[in-house]
Amino acid sequence: MDEVKFRIAHISDTHISPHGNFVEESFDWAMKDINKLHPDIVIHSGDLTDNGVLTDYELAATKLRTLEPRTLVAPGNHDENNLGHSLFKEMIGPVDNELKLDNMAIYITDSPQPDRDEGRLGRRRQTYLEEKLSQLEKGTMKILVFHHHLVSVPFSGRDQDVLEDAGDILDMVLRHKVNLVLMGHRHVRRVLQIYDTVLVNTGTVSSIRTRGRLGQSYNIIDVLTDGSIRVTERNITAKNSSVLGIFKQNTQNQIPTST
Ligand SMILES: [Fe+2]
Ligand SMILES: [Fe+2]
Repeated sequence: MDEVKFRIAHISDTHISPHGNFVEESFDWAMKDINKLHPDIVIHSGDLTDNGVLTDYELAATKLRTLEPRTLVAPGNHDENNLGHSLFKEMIGPVDNELKLDNMAIYITDSPQPDRDEGRLGRRRQTYLEEKLSQLEKGTMKILVFHHHLVSVPFSGRDQDVLEDAGDILDMVLRHKVNLVLMGHRHVRRVLQIYDTVLVNTGTVSSIRTRGRLGQSYNIIDVLTDGSIRVTERNITAKNSSVLGIFKQNTQNQIPTST
């Protein structure tokens, strides 16, 4: 039986605010659940706050302190509203960030644009990531995190918010065999493997804006001793857990060149 080598709690779209759409009891339940599961790291893929305003950030900063593991947060489009960008940097952390942990390289990237729902990484960030990814030692596990989705997600209705430069970013991700891409934004959990890359969307932890009967949720992502990646949904509304998939790595599948 394979054991867990590294555990990530992947949360998103908490939409924390003293006004409106934030469901505090769901958030508090999830934070206790995460602390009990002892992940090595917590990664938040954006929409930490609902409106990007000072009172939202003050509450968010207080709420995040209830998490015991180290936590990294990527900004979402809601965090950028109302000049939220400056408060994010001041109270939460850098909007672009990177961390080396064991044999892992984690890149947090800033996909939103001020006061717009659409996201993009842009040429400069893409060039930077290309350089970083090509310099990593062989065998390093690569994890890329941004808020907007790279591939359309079901139950999204008319989908206009896929990363504007999704084609180029997906090409880069596949060429560099990025192991995991962690995203949020659609409030829908979804896992998809393309060649060796596992694309993970997680649902909303604590927004009232859930879809159909999906409820509020977050994901536990386990890297197992044989290198496979197991993604488990922890459903906050139903208080249950289900494995969304177990994905083998290093499949030797040939990736077609794009040029
Ligand atoms: Fe959201
Ligand atoms: Fe969003």
